[in-house]
Amino acid sequence: MKLWAISDLHIGYAKNRAAVEAISDHGDDWLIVAGDVGETFQHLRDVFTVLGEKFAQLIWVPGNHELWTHKSCESPLRGVPRYAALVALARAHGVLTPEDPFPLWPEDGGLAICPLFIGYDYTFGPGGLDPEQARAWSKEKGIVAMDERLLHPDPYPTKEAWCAARIAETEARLEALPAGTETVLINHWTMRQELVRLPELIQRFLPWCGTRATEDWHLRFHARAVVTGHLHMRATDWVDGTRFEEVATGYPRHWKVDRGLDSYLREIVPGPPPPHPPGRVGPSWHR
Ligand SMILES: [Fe+2]
Ligand SMILES: [Fe+2]
Repeated sequence: MKLWAISDLHIGYAKNRAAVEAISDHGDDWLIVAGDVGETFQHLRDVFTVLGEKFAQLIWVPGNHELWTHKSCESPLRGVPRYAALVALARAHGVLTPEDPFPLWPEDGGLAICPLFIGYDYTFGPGGLDPEQARAWSKEKGIVAMDERLLHPDPYPTKEAWCAARIAETEARLEALPAGTETVLINHWTMRQELVRLPELIQRFLPWCGTRATEDWHLRFHARAVVTGHLHMRATDWVDGTRFEEVATGYPRHWKVDRGLDSYLREIVPGPPPPHPPGRVGPSWHR
């Protein structure tokens, strides 16, 4: 029995949709789908239906694309009510979400699988900038994320305020785990700034990639592995004995469509043994 992960399936692209449909049956295995399934509720329904038949349990966390109030989406919901509707949709398909009790891995009761929704607060970047300055720093090089037009924080006044609330709520839940519980932390956005390695042209997309608040969560919450997506640049890194897995396939130009998605599923549990000697190892890229 294995726990696999993938993200950024972006099934609005026909090639990605076909590839998702072609993923093989994995029997008793579980699958993490770490956000950016698509832009519409129907995208989510389709992926949960197709993959729900190929895995014993799906675990989903939202990405920015699900949270967009996009004109192609059948729902005009924004912000928190939109997220709540996405969670309800996932639950209707038996999919675990960040709002459900953290399941224990059936073959290791000391390992909690923790889907999280943290978001971002514009603290990734050169440091010391407030959100407005961070966006201005990005705009100097012509970068403005689509989130600025499409991802609304309602009823919070700002996305950073929503993120702060998510951080406080999530920390409390992780702190409530029995002392010493090992975890697999799952979040769409990157949890350490050093792991955001963007191509030169889009380097200033950084402020939309995470929050510095989660920099030490792998240590605080005894993470065996941290699973994220969003970057569309798949890699494995070892930091402080924790394995960080970026598992995002992305748009068809970001992965080798001919290879199919089976080879892009990343094994999280049991996964590979830690490197010897332990320490900072990586990135190992998964092209
Ligand atoms: Fe994505
Ligand atoms: Fe994303």
